Amino acid sequence: MKSRKSRNERALRLAVIGAGSRGRAYSEYAEITQKQLEIIAVAENIKKRREIFSKRFNIPSSFQYKSGEELLKAAPEADAVLIATPDRTHVKMVKAFSEAGYNILLEKPIATEIEGVKEIADIVTHHNKQLFGVCHVLLYTPLTRQINKIIENDVLGDIVSIQSLEPIGYWHFIHSYVRGNWRREDISSPLLLAKSCHDIDWIMHIMQEKVLSVSSFGSLNHFHEGSKPKNSSNRCIDCSIEKTCPFSSCRFYRNQLINGSKEWPLDTVISDFTHEALEQELKTGPYGKCVYSCDNTVVDNQVVNIKFVNNKTASFSVVAFSDADYRKTRIFGSRGMLDTDGKTINVFSFLDNLWEEIPINMMDGVSAVKGHGGGDFELMKSYIAAWRSGDYSDMNKKTIEGCLSHQVVFAAEKARKEASVVQMGDFQLLHDLS
Ligand SMILES: NC(=O)c1ccc[n+]([C@@H]2O[C@H](COP(=O)([O-])OP(=O)(O)OC[C@H]3O[C@@H](n4cnc5c(N)ncnc54)[C@H](O)[C@@H]3O)[C@@H](O)[C@H]2O)c1
Repeated sequence: MKSRKSRNERALRLAVIGAGSRGRAYSEYAEITQKQLEIIAVAENIKKRREIFSKRFNIPSSFQYKSGEELLKAAPEADAVLIATPDRTHVKMVKAFSEAGYNILLEKPIATEIEGVKEIADIVTHHNKQLFGVCHVLLYTPLTRQINKIIENDVLGDIVSIQSLEPIGYWHFIHSYVRGNWRREDISSPLLLAKSCHDIDWIMHIMQEKVLSVSSFGSLNHFHEGSKPKNSSNRCIDCSIEKTCPFSSCRFYRNQLINGSKEWPLDTVISDFTHEALEQELKTGPYGKCVYSCDNTVVDNQVVNIKFVNNKTASFSVVAFSDADYRKTRIFGSRGMLDTDGKTINVFSFLDNLWEEIPINMMDGVSAVKGHGGGDFELMKSYIAAWRSGDYSDMNKKTIEGCLSHQVVFAAEKARKEASVVQMGDFQLLHDLS
């Protein structure tokens, strides 16, 4: 039965497709504000995950589905679907759910092939009565809001160049990109697409200029058989040098279990938070493997250089070899520069020859590694606000801009693989949308 309440009087009813880390992360917004968001259905392949998720969000058994495809057939009445399934399923899911008339919130990457990005851009353009959001969460953080204000107030003058570093963190990298689901380009996507497509999107959002050309270098420098220490074995659990290896899975996951955490990344390794379940996983599962004996192919370091129109430039680096930390960014303008470590913003004015520190109001309980510095919940807030207002133009425009920035990621990958400079004019499929 259709709800008689107006959109302003009730929560957005969300069906979640994929109850993994990201499905859960956005759904948690319903726990802090039930008036805004209600999780009404879930589709999840893994039974145990589906059950735990359903219990947590009070989803009745008749609204629990084994797959997105099953949910689509049942067509539950929902205001939107969140697509938080693996990278390579995104295009198919968006096609099917948009065809069925649902509003969509899609996890990044939009697609793993440039042709898929074009298909999504066409869908968003032609179904403009539906709301499309893409989870480029960096656009929604309090940090970005504050930086946008500084730029709007012309404190920096004309932006000439941007420098940005994404320090993934060694343990996050080995968890996801050496042992985990994003380790191989052929089954997920390249690192730049999987991890940093929203960084490239963010740089383009700040620069507000068309991209002309792109170059990139990067390699799988360290996490391969050639770096394997002598006397190490293929699993940490029986490795003679485990105690001195910084990448020991035993140390990392056991410590998380001992500390009582049931959160990511341990929740991707086990769903029964017991010593026995973890030891079994360390003995037999992918997360117990030696980091030098996995079948990973994605790069562990990459740099991207971008040339914009009006001779503006940006450089972006992503690295595994760091603590898990906020992104570090500098924006250079004609009247001043901005420097942020993700926790504070410092602005230097050429006129005053002075630095000024500008604090960022972070939400409680969010950090660089949890909640994307507030971006996850702020995205949900913006999506719900767009749905309530009925004005989808800004969010749909951001989705199209996301498609355009994905093109730059594909161009960077081409440049890296061919050791060339890619001219966007020769490369892009989406000329008409910019
Ligand atoms: N926005 C971000 O910053 C960010 C961060 C990490 C991951 N991601 C992206 O989010 C997506 C999900 O990542 P994750 O970390 O939650 O992965 P995950 O593996 O934890 O969760 C994905 C879930 O989807 C389920 N699934 C697969 N096919 C399905 C289907 N047909 N129907 C229903 N369920 C299905 C899987 O069983 C799994 O539980 C990926 O595309 C990933 O690249 C985005």
